[in-house]
Amino acid sequence: MTAGKKSGARQGATRSGLRSTSGNADFPQASKVRVGLVGVTGYTGMELARLLAAHPFMSLTRATSRSEEGRGLADLHPFLRGTAVGELAISAPDPEDLARACDLVFLAVPHGAAMSLAADLLRRGLRVLDLSADFRLRDKAVYERWYATEHTEPDLLTESVYGLPELHGAELAGARLTANPGCYPTGAVLGLYPVLKNGIAGDSPPIIDAKSGVSGAGREAKVGSLFSEVSDNFKAYSLSTHRHTPEIEQELSRIAGRPLTVSFSPHLLPVNRGILSTIYVDLKNPNMPLRDIRSLYAEAYADHAFVRFLREGALPDLRSVRGSMYCDIGLVKDERNGRLIIVTCIDNMCRGASGQAIAGANLMCGLPSAAGLGLIPLAP
Ligand SMILES: NC(=O)c1ccc[n+]([C@@H]2O[C@H](COP(=O)([O-])OP(=O)(O)OC[C@H]3O[C@@H](n4cnc5c(N)ncnc54)[C@H](OP(=O)(O)O)[C@@H]3O)[C@@H](O)[C@H]2O)c1
Repeated sequence: MTAGKKSGARQGATRSGLRSTSGNADFPQASKVRVGLVGVTGYTGMELARLLAAHPFMSLTRATSRSEEGRGLADLHPFLRGTAVGELAISAPDPEDLARACDLVFLAVPHGAAMSLAADLLRRGLRVLDLSADFRLRDKAVYERWYATEHTEPDLLTESVYGLPELHGAELAGARLTANPGCYPTGAVLGLYPVLKNGIAGDSPPIIDAKSGVSGAGREAKVGSLFSEVSDNFKAYSLSTHRHTPEIEQELSRIAGRPLTVSFSPHLLPVNRGILSTIYVDLKNPNMPLRDIRSLYAEAYADHAFVRFLREGALPDLRSVRGSMYCDIGLVKDERNGRLIIVTCIDNMCRGASGQAIAGANLMCGLPSAAGLGLIPLAP
């Protein structure tokens, strides 16, 4: 990585979202980046289409589905009627066609389906942003153990960049392959980053108690996602076995500079969008004043407009981030036991998937990270 790339990417992730460099020479700013979207029938594909419809520097030239080929996008997704992408005809996910029509392709497909497609598109000279878990874990054996799937493209695991813009903006600039972070890991890693980076956590594993809306499970028909199963109910699932556990541990270990485990407890909330994570950390010095901890958070996120560090006494809620790129963070110190309680909220579909994918793709293409993402949360 050159010094030039580093400084350019930092500019790209600044609070203003504006870059002082002229951007990546591969994508002249005068013409729009032509992007493809594989998996437009799914929830993250729908969210990508929503965001791309208004993107100032990207143009959606292909949207694919195996089941809806030939249909108009607005016919399939009526919320896209009258938008810049509404008239696009859905095509089959054909790498040759994508290579003809696109500069960069978003893969919004299940894990296992992305790896060979990504390799094929890269060989054809495209850039790839993968929303699945196929390129998030560095270690092939860890991927194969947690996902029970053989990884057929292990060479790409070392090349892919983990697409959290606040932490990896420099590597994202000019990257060919980006692994978009998982939804739960996004809220957990952003919540714990200032604590681990500054070495103020004790030795006991952090506890991440997280609650997700139902869209996190994807759009495929499953009994567990039915209205009557989810509404008026609340439950824990996959305790200590959820597939996002190794991803969270990988990223937190990287930040801490030592191997680290977590207790990760996901729950299913009867809402469409959103993840609220309550994170408990024992402090190395239980007497560390809250104001000193707050300064570390304020400093860590001073230049990152997508993270809103709330004033003392305020706690995040799902409604305040809905439909946006914001990760809201609130802190409480339990003075009776010296434990820090961190609460983070994100929209799983936007910040936890498609919005973050756009931010990553922006940086890959030399665009401002915030391009097309000036989204004010939807309330009520
Ligand atoms: N939902 C979330 O909040 C969220 C958050 C972060 C990350 N993710 C990840 O993002 C990816 C997509 O998630 P999702 O929730 O949008 O899933 P989804 O609703 O189940 O949609 C999956 C999409 O992939 C397409 N597809 C499936 N198999 C394919 C294949 N072999 N080749 C080409 N296309 C294929 C499907 O379209 P056709 O069947 O019509 O072709 C569909 O459009 C997953 O890897 C998921 O883990 C999801």
